[in-house]
Amino acid sequence: MCGIVGAVSHRNIVPILVEGLKRLEYRGYDSCGVAVHQGGGLRRTRSTSRVAELGLQVVEDQVLGGTGIAHTRWATHGVPALHNAHPHFSSDRIALVHNGIIENHDELREQLQRKGYVFESQTDTEVIAHLVHQLYDGDLFDAVQRATLQLKGAYAIAVFCRDEPHRVVGAREGSPLVLGLGQHEGQGEAFLASDAMALAGVTDQIVYLEEGDVVDLQLGKHWISARQADGRFQPVQREVRTVHAHTGAAELGPYQHYMQKEIFEQPRAISDTLESVAGITPELFGDGAYQVFKQIDRVLILACGTSYYAGSTAKYWLESIAGIPCSVEVASEYRYRDSVPDPRTLVVTISQSGETADTLAALKHARSLGQPHTLTICNGATSAMVRECKLHFLTRAGVEIGVASTKAFTTQLVALFLLTLTLAQLRGRLSQAQEAEHIKALRHLPVAVQAVLALEPQVIAWAAEFARKENALFLGRGLHYPIAQEGALKLKEISYIHAEAYPAGELKHGPLALVTSSMPVVTIAPNDALLDKLKSNLQEVRARGGELFVFADSDSHIRSEPGVHVIRMPEHYGALSPILHVVTLQLLAYHTACARGTDVDKPRNLAKSVTVE
Ligand code: M6R
Repeated sequence: MCGIVGAVSHRNIVPILVEGLKRLEYRGYDSCGVAVHQGGGLRRTRSTSRVAELGLQVVEDQVLGGTGIAHTRWATHGVPALHNAHPHFSSDRIALVHNGIIENHDELREQLQRKGYVFESQTDTEVIAHLVHQLYDGDLFDAVQRATLQLKGAYAIAVFCRDEPHRVVGAREGSPLVLGLGQHEGQGEAFLASDAMALAGVTDQIVYLEEGDVVDLQLGKHWISARQADGRFQPVQREVRTVHAHTGAAELGPYQHYMQKEIFEQPRAISDTLESVAGITPELFGDGAYQVFKQIDRVLILACGTSYYAGSTAKYWLESIAGIPCSVEVASEYRYRDSVPDPRTLVVTISQSGETADTLAALKHARSLGQPHTLTICNGATSAMVRECKLHFLTRAGVEIGVASTKAFTTQLVALFLLTLTLAQLRGRLSQAQEAEHIKALRHLPVAVQAVLALEPQVIAWAAEFARKENALFLGRGLHYPIAQEGALKLKEISYIHAEAYPAGELKHGPLALVTSSMPVVTIAPNDALLDKLKSNLQEVRARGGELFVFADSDSHIRSEPGVHVIRMPEHYGALSPILHVVTLQLLAYHTACARGTDVDKPRNLAKSVTVE
C-alpha cells in the first residue's frame, strides 16, 4: 500500500510532508521517511517508528527544504527495517518514493547490477531509483517517462534530482496519485499525494491523475503527459477540481482508541447515511438508476474483507425480499477466475475506502466481460471506485481511522438494505405498507444501536476471559452467518486470537472436533425462524463441554447456566437484526484486544486501505 507525498515550493515544505504522512498512515505504518533538496544535495531522515517520531527527528536533524518527497510504508519486498524504508537514493543524485509493486523488479535489478548499480535494500522500489538514474540525461521528466516504459506492475512514484533543485516528477499506473496546486504568499506551489486528504489545509485544488500519467512539478507551474498505446507521451490537460477533503484528524474525545470512538459513532453514522432518504426510489443510487435497474435480472457483489461480509449479508436480503438472484465474490478471486458473464447483471462493489486494488480490478474485469451496469457502495466520495462506477451510493460514516472497520460496515448494510428495497419495489414485491414499515425500522435503527452500545459493561466482563484464549469459534445461521464471520475477523484482526466462523448447522461436519472446555464458542441467537435449530446446535456444543457465549434476543428463551453465558439483546429487529448483533461482536473484539494490550487502531501487518494486490 504505502502513502506518498511530494512538494515544490518557495517555503520549507518539511512540516507539510510530515503532516501529509500522518494522514496517510492508514495506508501503512511499517516505516517512514522524508528526503529534501538541501545545501545543494539530497538530505534524508528515515524511521522504523511512527510518523509522529519522524516529525521530531526531522526537527532535530534540521531537515529543511522547498523541494522534497516523503513516504509511509506497508512492507511488501523486504522486512520493515531502516535500509528498506523510503525514500531510496541512487548515487546521491536521485531520490524516489513508491507505492505499489513492480512485478519485473528481479529482471531489472539484474540488468542494473550488470551496469554496476549496488543495491542497499531488498525493495522493488530501489530498482526504479537506479533506473531513473541510469536514464537521466539532464531532464528528470524525460527520464521518468522513459523509466515507466520499462516497469511492469503498479506504481505511484515521486522523484527529485540533486541537479534540478526546484522540480519533482510523479507518475502513476495502478496506484493512486493526485496533484495539488496551491499558492503561498502569492507564489505558486505544487504537491503530490496518494490521497487528497494528505493535502487538506494546504490546497483544495486537486487533479486526479490518470493511469499512465507522468507529471512535472515546478515552482508555480506543472505539465502532465499521458502515455499512449504506442508508448509515446502526449501533453494532456486534466480537470482541476475543488476537493473538500476531510483531514481525518478527528479528536478522540472521551475514547481510548479510534475504533472505540467509531463503534460509538454508529448511531450518528447510520442516521447521516439515512438523512437524504425520504422514501424508496432508484434515484438514491444516482441519475439513471431507474433505467439501469430495469435492465438487470441478477446482482453480482464484489468486495474484500469486512465489505465482503456486508455483501454476504445482503445476498440474504436481495434473494428473500427482492427475489433477485445474487452472488457474492471475494474480489481477489473473481478477478482471476473464469466466470460466466451476463450482461443483465448489476455489478455492485462495496468498499469503505473506494481504493482497494482487488475490488477495483474485479470491477474492471467484470466490465471487460461485457457487464456494463455498475454500482458502488462507498464511503470515499472522491475515490477511484466512485469515479469508475456508473451509479453510486455514498455511505456517510465519516472518516474511519481504526484499521478494523466498524461504522463503515453498518452503514454499508443500511445502503444494501435500501438497494434491496428499491429492487423489491421495481419488481413489484414491496407494497406501500411494507415500504413504510421498513423505513420506520430504518429510522429507529440509531436508537436501537444506542441500546446495544449500552451492553458494553457486560461485554467487557466477557472480554477479560477471552483475552486468555488463543482460539475461538463463532456461530450464526442464515442472515447472521456473515455476521459471525465479521465477528471472527474483528477478533483475529485486532486481538490476534485465532477465530473461525461457521454456520451453526455445519458444526457437526467437522469443526465440532475442535470443541473442548478451552474453546469459547460465540453464538448469535436472534429470535428468527432458525432459532430452534440453533438451540439444537448449541446442545451439541454443550454435550462436548464447549463453553458458550451467546448474544440472544430477549425473547429467545436461552438462559445462562454453567457453561452458557448469555447477553440479552434489547430487542429483536427482524431483517435488520444483523446491524444490531454485529455491534456486540465489535465491542467484544475491541475489549479483548484492549485486555491483551495490542495496538488496536494499527494492528500488526495491516493497513487501513489495501491499495496493492
Ligand atoms: O476499503 P475496503 O472496504 O475496500 O476494504 C476492504 C478490506 O480491506 C477491509 O474491510 C478489511 O478487511 C478491514 N480491515 C476489516 O476490518
